[in-house]
Amino acid sequence: MLHFKTIIEPFRIKTVESVKFTERADRERALVEAGHNVFLLKGEDVLIDLLTDSGTGAMSAAQWGAIMQGDETYAGSRSFYRFRDVVQDLTGFRHVIPTHQGRAAERILFHSVLQPGDVVPNNNHFDTTRANVEVEKAEARDLVIPEGRVPSQLHPFKGNIDLAALERTLQQDGERVPLVMVTVTNNTGGGQPVSLENLRGVRKLCDRYQKPFFLDACRFAENSWFVKSREEGQADRSPKQIAREMFSLADGCTMSAKKDGLSNIGGFLALNDDAWAERCRNLLILTEGFPTYGGLAGYDLEAVARGLEEVVEEPYLRYRIRSTEYLHERLVAAGVPVIRPAGGHAVYIDARGLLPHIEPLAYPGIALVNALYLEAGIRGVEIGSVMFGRQPDGSERAPAMDLVRLAIPRRVYTQSHIDYVAEAVIGVAALKQQLRGYRITKAPAVLRHFTALFEPLAA
Ligand SMILES: Cc1ncc(COP(=O)(O)O)c(C=O)c1O
Repeated sequence: MLHFKTIIEPFRIKTVESVKFTERADRERALVEAGHNVFLLKGEDVLIDLLTDSGTGAMSAAQWGAIMQGDETYAGSRSFYRFRDVVQDLTGFRHVIPTHQGRAAERILFHSVLQPGDVVPNNNHFDTTRANVEVEKAEARDLVIPEGRVPSQLHPFKGNIDLAALERTLQQDGERVPLVMVTVTNNTGGGQPVSLENLRGVRKLCDRYQKPFFLDACRFAENSWFVKSREEGQADRSPKQIAREMFSLADGCTMSAKKDGLSNIGGFLALNDDAWAERCRNLLILTEGFPTYGGLAGYDLEAVARGLEEVVEEPYLRYRIRSTEYLHERLVAAGVPVIRPAGGHAVYIDARGLLPHIEPLAYPGIALVNALYLEAGIRGVEIGSVMFGRQPDGSERAPAMDLVRLAIPRRVYTQSHIDYVAEAVIGVAALKQQLRGYRITKAPAVLRHFTALFEPLAA
């Protein structure tokens, strides 16, 4: 019997979308018009878009077929019950509240349960999660293990929360902690997984201090694959069995179905506590919609339900995690500093490590993102001093890392696209001495990275 080393895409392509090739001069013009902020580019001016893996995936024929089954009944839609049943089968949570995306679930949860001065511990809050905590005048406290803060340090579960630090927080500030969160995988820290053992440790602490434990479950399936392939005793379990155990350790979750829901829009909040669920549903009705659609169309609920079934399939996850690792391997081999090991949904370049001549507050991540677009038409995203450097009092402080994330949309790009990306990154890294920092000329107070305008610093 032949044993194949090549892992192929576990699908064939039925519909294609052309990409537009542009010249460097076109891209230079587009970047100036966008205020040197790639979020403000037109999507069609981007050749390979690695801005985010959120909502950018390709849906399957089965999902498109399910969309035609969408029931648009305002209250009690059949599509809601299908969605609820799939979510409950996976998570086991009693209450399933659909939302239009992840941040809506965050806002509804945090607005319903946080008071000013509260503290929410997490391994690392994602930007919207942090913003939704801070807008309630509460503190978003990041407690990832020390290894998770060092880009080059290898650790199989670099997304783990530091249990000793969590216990200190619960001891010292316990009365101000309404819930504990863990993000799987840890997007801000490099798409790094969290072990089952670590989640069990969080559960124990939450039991001891009587705190509810919520997962930010956007990439629960990718996390399950890492557990299966890296954690002792897990190799023979299916990703779905592992996912179920992860959810069984928690009291609730927020979810963006734009990631591991394999859908272009959607999300949910799921939880066990009846009183919290009632509060959340009341707010949902005020801002999102009736609890059986929560801001989504019936057809969206169908797409998410089917996506949640497909995402835990082994051939899909094997291909998904391997394709990210493939890009990572090529960059490591060329000496480009990246967060190691590879994350699940993205490769994170250590922009501060690559561009030590650019001060963190001159935004090395922006310098690298803009150079990648200019030279190769590739769009990545800065996760560093622009995204996280602004403090609630308006001052600026550089975070632990300045990263550039190349997020890989699900089931969208082929291996030759990724080969092109590798060639481009290696080529731009060779130009590093020519890259300059930036300054911000205009920025909003919250989530500034989306709309800030920049100006390159003089050579
Ligand atoms: C870890 C994490 N939490 C929450 C969100 C927010 O989800 P959404 O973009 O659907 O609002 C994201 C989105 O990227 C994320 O990566």
